[in-house]
Order: sequence, then structure tokens, then C-alpha cells
Amino acid sequence: MIRSFLQSDIPQALPIEEATQIAPWSEVAFLRCFEAKYPGWVIEDQGQVVGFVLLSLAVGECHILNLCIHPKAQRRGFGRQLMEYALDWAKEQGAGIVYLEVRRSNLAAILLYQNMHFKQIGERKDYYPAGRGREDALVFARDIGIEVFLEKGGL
Ligand SMILES: CC(C)(COP(=O)(O)OP(=O)(O)OC[C@H]1O[C@@H](n2cnc3c(N)ncnc32)[C@H](O)[C@@H]1OP(=O)(O)O)[C@@H](O)C(=O)NCCC(=O)NCCS
Repeated sequence: MIRSFLQSDIPQALPIEEATQIAPWSEVAFLRCFEAKYPGWVIEDQGQVVGFVLLSLAVGECHILNLCIHPKAQRRGFGRQLMEYALDWAKEQGAGIVYLEVRRSNLAAILLYQNMHFKQIGERKDYYPAGRGREDALVFARDIGIEVFLEKGGL
């Protein structure tokens, strides 16, 4: 089940974040998202939160800020379901484009995004902290504005 990410979900989200991310967000980073009123959703399996997505939306641009699925719940379609839910929501809000960044080494996420028709549009050198030094980010985008236009019959 997918439902809104509530501030009271942070204690369940933090261990998922810590188990999956190389440079995990702190509680404060999650709280800032709530202060900024960024939308987010969690996905539950048997009543337990097993993953979440957070995004921002402004001037027609949607940015995926965080997406995590608990290691024990990965490869069961939850990541894709959350992303599809977030993209449907962004389309309803009239967003034109969705952007995200991903570590160059994060093959699982890169394959997920490619599978979901995101295209690599650039890279940011040394964007992320890494074990030793820094790691590049690949920037991906998906033009959802044109999808909505075509879904409505185009011209
Ligand atoms: C990336 C992540 C969110 C994927 O979530 P998930 O629930 O495991 O992914 P799904 O089961 O929905 O997989 C959807 C598709 O993504 C790709 N994929 C996901 N994990 C993969 C893996 N380990 N290896 C290869 N492909 C993978 C596949 O194409 C898969 O489709 P398929 O199962 O039909 O082959 C999850 O691995 C995760 O939380 N990783 C750590 C945090 C992270 O990297 N977040 C993204 C930051 S940009």
C-alpha cells in the first residue's frame, strides 16, 4: 500500500535510509523536507514501511529528492511502484519535467530509471561524498509534459 509520508514515519524511514545510502540523510534532512512541505509517500508491506520517495515541485519542475527501499524488500517492484505513483501525482499537478541525480556506481537505480524511460541528460562532477573522495552524479530527466499532451490526443 502506498500512502502519504508523514512526519511520524521518520523513525521508520531513518533505518531504511541508513541501510541503503552511502551518505544517509539525517533526521534533520527529513524534517527540512516537511518544513518545506515537500510531497512524499511511503510503501508498506504487511503493515511495515519498507520504502519511501520524496520530491519537490516548483515552476513545473519536479525533482526526485530521495528514493529508498529496505534491502530486504528490494527487487519486488516497490521502487518502481513508488516512482510511478510519484510521476502520476506530478502529472496531475501539471509538472512538465522530472529530474533526478544518481551516483555513477548505482547500477540498480540507473537500471530502474532507464527502465522507466528516464534519459541521461548530463552529469555533475564530484557531486556526492564517497568512501574515498567524491563521486559523480548522472543527471536523468523524463519529459512528462509531452506524455500528458499526447495522452490527451496531442494537437
Ligand atoms: C534503486 C532502488 C530504489 C530500486 O528499488 P527496488 O524496489 O529494488 O526496484 P524494483 O524491484 O521496483 O525494480 C524495478 C527495476 O529496476 C531495476 N533494478 C532494481 N534493482 C536492481 C538490481 N539490484 N540490479 C539490476 N536491476 C535492478 C530492474 O530493471 C527492475 O526491473 P525488473 O525487476 O523487472 O528487472 C533500491 O535498490 C534502493 O533503495 N537502493 C538504495 C537507495 C538508492 O540507490 N536510491 C536511489 C538513489 S538515486
